[in-house]
Amino acid sequence: MKTYSIALLPGDGVGKPVTEAAWDVLQAVAKASDFALEGTTFPWSCEFYKQTGAMMPADGIETLRRFDAILLGAVGWPAEVPDSVSLHGLLLPIRKAFAQYANIRPHRLLTGVSGPLKSDDFDVLCIRENTEGEYSGAGGRVHQGTADEVAIETSIFTRKGVERILRFGFEQARVRRGKLASVTKSNAQKHTMVFWDEITRELAAEYPDVEVASYHIDAMAARMVMAPETLDVVVASNLFGDILTDLGAAIQGGLGFAASANINPDRSAPSMFEPVHGSAPDIAHLGIANPIAAIWSGAMMLAHLGESDAAARIMVAIEATTKAGIGAIPGRDKTETIAKAVLERLL
Ligand code: NAD
Ligand code: IPM
Ligand code: MN
Repeated sequence: MKTYSIALLPGDGVGKPVTEAAWDVLQAVAKASDFALEGTTFPWSCEFYKQTGAMMPADGIETLRRFDAILLGAVGWPAEVPDSVSLHGLLLPIRKAFAQYANIRPHRLLTGVSGPLKSDDFDVLCIRENTEGEYSGAGGRVHQGTADEVAIETSIFTRKGVERILRFGFEQARVRRGKLASVTKSNAQKHTMVFWDEITRELAAEYPDVEVASYHIDAMAARMVMAPETLDVVVASNLFGDILTDLGAAIQGGLGFAASANINPDRSAPSMFEPVHGSAPDIAHLGIANPIAAIWSGAMMLAHLGESDAAARIMVAIEATTKAGIGAIPGRDKTETIAKAVLERLL
């Protein structure tokens, strides 16, 4: 029997219960299929940082490299560890080290979930550049603590990086509804964003079958609320994609519904699957985190591993759950109730 080795990184706050729920569902679907999942849990988190002084051991990346995939909950507990330390110590280095340059985030309404928009008719696939751009980490501060203090955070966009994420988007558009929206802010940022627009135009010539449009990020934010049905694949830089996908989560009913996949398309290293949301410190003690985003991310993991039937079965079970009203209203049901309902509906 085929066995996949999965690294589990529950992380902080609600990351823990939602990862547990996703893992239960994944195990159940594996049991009913012809493959097995072998999980190894790593306690890397802000708690781990407090005990050891690091978010993961020095050889953490090398440890993760031998797994077929990584399932992550959420990282960050800002009351105790600054986000600039925790995220740069665990989540962001994994995305970068494993060249998980395509962060795929689907936004559509699950059956039975009401979003805040007038129209329920949208199915947007956000593809976020995940390894460079505004998240390059280049910069610094000078004259610290003085009236002349300056802080610089430099965005780095490489031709290789921009080309590969746009190409990934074009390929996705080809197998979806044939439309690609490229998002920049080239009216204000004249180096990086003009560069991105140029590469979009160059690639558009290679994909005459894909209808391409470029939007400014501000206009795209409005469009996602006013007319999301006009969108198919949306490709954006690291920061813009981050912001747009919380907006995407909002239009699909909340952060508890938004799944994501950090993909290494070359398969030269493991890909990582995680909900879009964070550790949700405001609700972490209440037991009401919605595990659907994490379970959906687990389905994306199975699809990536080639277990598409099992992935589809999870999606059917999720939608049967929300259709029955369970987990459909943020904050109403317990994490375990929703997870149990999904488990019961696995065909
Ligand atoms: P957040 O996503 O944790 O929470 C935003 C809002 O969404 C909160 O009101 C929260 O209660 C709600 N929410 C989140 N997940 C939910 C779920 N599963 N079910 C129901 N409601 C949910 O964002 P934040 O508050 O800005 O960040 C908290 C911490 O998480 C910070 O340390 C931040 O840096 C980190 N973070 C980590 C990731 C990640 O690991 N991928 C993502 C985002 C934020
Ligand atoms: C996400 C998160 C992260 C990001 C943070 C926690 C660094 O918001 O996965 O969307 O911005 O990538
Ligand atoms: Mn985010």
